[in-house]
Amino acid sequence: MLREALDSNWVAPAGPQLSALESEITGLLGVGHALALNSGTAALHLALLQAKIKAGDEVIVPTLTFAAPAHAVSYCGATPVFVDCGRLDWSLDPERVLQAVQARRSLGKKVKAVIAVDLYGVCADYRALRSLCSEHGLVLIEDAAGALGSSYGGKRAGAWGDLSIISLNGNKIITCGGGGLLLSNEEKWIEEARQLSQQARETGPNFHHHEVGFNYRLSNLLAAVGRAQLPLLQKRIEQRRTVHQRYRKSLERLPGVNFMPLGEGEASWNAWLTALQIIAPDFGTSAEKIGAHFNTVGIEVRPLCKPMHLQPAYLTAPRFGGEIAEMIASQGIVLPSGSALTPGQQDRIVKELSKLSND
Ligand SMILES: Cc1ncc(COP(=O)(O)O)c(C=O)c1O
Repeated sequence: MLREALDSNWVAPAGPQLSALESEITGLLGVGHALALNSGTAALHLALLQAKIKAGDEVIVPTLTFAAPAHAVSYCGATPVFVDCGRLDWSLDPERVLQAVQARRSLGKKVKAVIAVDLYGVCADYRALRSLCSEHGLVLIEDAAGALGSSYGGKRAGAWGDLSIISLNGNKIITCGGGGLLLSNEEKWIEEARQLSQQARETGPNFHHHEVGFNYRLSNLLAAVGRAQLPLLQKRIEQRRTVHQRYRKSLERLPGVNFMPLGEGEASWNAWLTALQIIAPDFGTSAEKIGAHFNTVGIEVRPLCKPMHLQPAYLTAPRFGGEIAEMIASQGIVLPSGSALTPGQQDRIVKELSKLSND
């Protein structure tokens, strides 16, 4: 497909690979409309603009997440309001969201939207969040950045938000190198976002702009790279599930090791990344020390995302709870989880981890 794109000389952010990627994605996810963009962060920014978020507004964001959703809120001049996750599911806590919305609105603040994140590919609690958002007049934005191929309640990740996004960055299960998708059943939102993503240039021979736009469109070449991998999605999910299962078999027996909660279960999860919670007194050492040890043996083991309310960039943002996210983040590690990880490589990871345990 890349060869086809090169031969056609459609090498700019326009061309047939883009519309083909968009229609393949809408078919796969069961969403009405898609827009291919050059990052998931750009998709979040445009989702917030379509939700009419502007300076002075507030948006609920989980504190246990990568920074992109908070940054996108800031691009709009709005304020992220950080909300804790649940102890049992690590996901945005709907009860706390309700508390936060009521408390901020009682102060006269304009809380307009909720961004829910499908953390490490596991879908958030959309039954509760969907009805809460409808009842309280909030736009629900689903950040399914790493959740392509996951599902919840019989619907695909990316189909739950009024607007949803997916990332096609290099570390994702399907990648364009860099890229993202904005999804919605509202055609008007996607078409307006399409216009904004192309510098808001009007159709016609003259370079004419009614609005300030962005250079956010994906290139036709990179759309071809993503399309070529789409038929492999299910195979990659199965490979990653095998990786996850091998970890479970070897590590579950160690004291103080909890596997990340999987929402509706393994069958609904794309197995993007395997994360563990290490209870230091039981295991024998802390998550931080495990990270340092793996560094010395040349294996990349990552910490969980540092909660947003602890980030210097967001210390003054309002927050509701955060203690659960802090605990989980301080105890969490993310193991190498790539589709191409071999049993031999995994044995080495398991051996290094077991050496550090009380077992
Ligand atoms: C939860 C979340 N949202 C958004 C993004 C941003 O995606 P991108 O890197 O494509 O801009 C990421 C990236 O990993 C993410 O983890």
